[in-house]
Amino acid sequence: MDATVYNVLGICGSLRKKSLNMLALKAAGDLLPRNYRLAIADISDIPNFNPDVYDEGYPPNVLDFRQKISDADALLFASPEYNFTLTGVLKNAIDWASRKTPVMPLANKPAAIISASTGLLGGARVQYDLRRILSSLHVNVLVQPEVFIGNAQAKFTEDGQLVDELTTRFLGEQMAAFAAWIERWVGFHAYTVPKA
Ligand code: FNR
Repeated sequence: MDATVYNVLGICGSLRKKSLNMLALKAAGDLLPRNYRLAIADISDIPNFNPDVYDEGYPPNVLDFRQKISDADALLFASPEYNFTLTGVLKNAIDWASRKTPVMPLANKPAAIISASTGLLGGARVQYDLRRILSSLHVNVLVQPEVFIGNAQAKFTEDGQLVDELTTRFLGEQMAAFAAWIERWVGFHAYTVPKA
């Protein structure tokens, strides 16, 4: 048995206390193999990206977020779809993480995406926009299986447990594929994105 421990950083695009995406992220973490640990980043206090602020140096919580990305073996994104795309807070956090000084922490990270929505499509459109953005930043996003959790409010209990059998199965299959994907990229973290 492989005893190596892999650390996955969860990034949630919703700041809502009862976020369904946060619940989905935690449920996914529980479905990862036993040697995987999921820690969830707090992006609630990341300031709006402004190149003037960036020129003065990263604010402390941005530095912390970037360090957490650097230290993680992989990234697991869960985001609602707002108006057919990413939430502003998630795009803002990615913009901060995309800066190349001193190095770009996102580069070469294996990643997977899930989304939950009260709508029937389960946030399909946010996933494709997020994929496109992450690909431009050299993030290696798992292609399949994809998991879109539609009508999500009916799939979790009041205390946040995922109780929908089919969703649990799909998420479990995705997390197994994600673990294999992460292990496939081990050792490929050396590429440094050149500064423009
Ligand atoms: C939404 N919602 C939504 N849902 C969807 O499937 N497609 C969409 O384009 C949108 N747009 C949208 C915009 C805004 C401003 C809000 C507040 C909501 C509904 C959204 O998916 C739903 O509220 C989720 O439950 C939000 O995710 P969390 O906060 O529960 O993780």
